[in-house]
Amino acid sequence: MKLRVAELRRDAGDVLAIRLEHPRRPQLPAWTAGAHVDVHVPGLGVRHYSLWGDPDDRSHYLIAVRREEAGRGGSAWLHQALAPDALLTVAAPRNHFELPEVPRRTLLVAGGIGVTPLLAMARRLTQNNADFAFHYCARSRAAAPLLDELAAICGDRLVTWFPDEGRRFDASTVLAAEPAEADILVCGPQRLAEAVEAAVAARGWPAECFHTERFAALDPGDFVPEPFEAVIASTGAVLSVPAERSLVAVLAEGGIELPTSCESGVCGSCECGYLQGEVVHRDVVLDATRQKTRLMPCVSRGRGRIVLDL
Ligand code: FES
Repeated sequence: MKLRVAELRRDAGDVLAIRLEHPRRPQLPAWTAGAHVDVHVPGLGVRHYSLWGDPDDRSHYLIAVRREEAGRGGSAWLHQALAPDALLTVAAPRNHFELPEVPRRTLLVAGGIGVTPLLAMARRLTQNNADFAFHYCARSRAAAPLLDELAAICGDRLVTWFPDEGRRFDASTVLAAEPAEADILVCGPQRLAEAVEAAVAARGWPAECFHTERFAALDPGDFVPEPFEAVIASTGAVLSVPAERSLVAVLAEGGIELPTSCESGVCGSCECGYLQGEVVHRDVVLDATRQKTRLMPCVSRGRGRIVLDL
């Protein structure tokens, strides 16, 4: 879609809050809390931005872009080049970061600009009168994006952690104060997500309690890809995937074209199911529960032989 920039607003110093509307249609495609849109930045490719508005109000989308001085240039372009009434190419929303289906006590933990998807979730949880708390970490109150909007939604369920006010977030302490297992959804810097994930494990809660969304590909580290076989359940065809090729490329060669975009396990476009076998997951999209039946064949691989639900 080509969407019109209806409003631009600076927030927390280095954040640009952007309101997007369709130039002709009164309603945009539906979305749910936690969804993001792919924004096409001319000459620089696609960037993902979470929607932080109200899913019930489809007259516009709200995104927020923090200027990343050390980034790849997408945020700098949006900050410099966007002006009211400019047109931006935006794909329909997708959601790889849904609120858990079965409601129970929920902790939302945001770091900085990671507040955006969680703000939409907080709005939904408030509407549902759900039991939740929102822990918001930022360098300082002045550097915390969308703080006013968040405070208006959460009320006294908002707990702020600003080091310059003498309050540092400690995931272990926060979890220790919870009397029973809760769902924890985290969005922010990787070290924040890792700290919360470690605290969940240390508290003895199952990995399924922890949910996060990452927008950067996994560090390849010392991962060494190995060849494997993929069986197509519906046809019985057996495809050999060499170590140096991706499963999605071999599938395409075999006549099964899955949609792709990032080809690095970040966007979720190529997701498919599997029925049997051991999968080495290399994406940052699927949580532990979905990884039991789904995989991202642009980066994830099988061990030995896997059966694909295609
Ligand atoms: S193409 Fe983006 S996750 Fe596979």
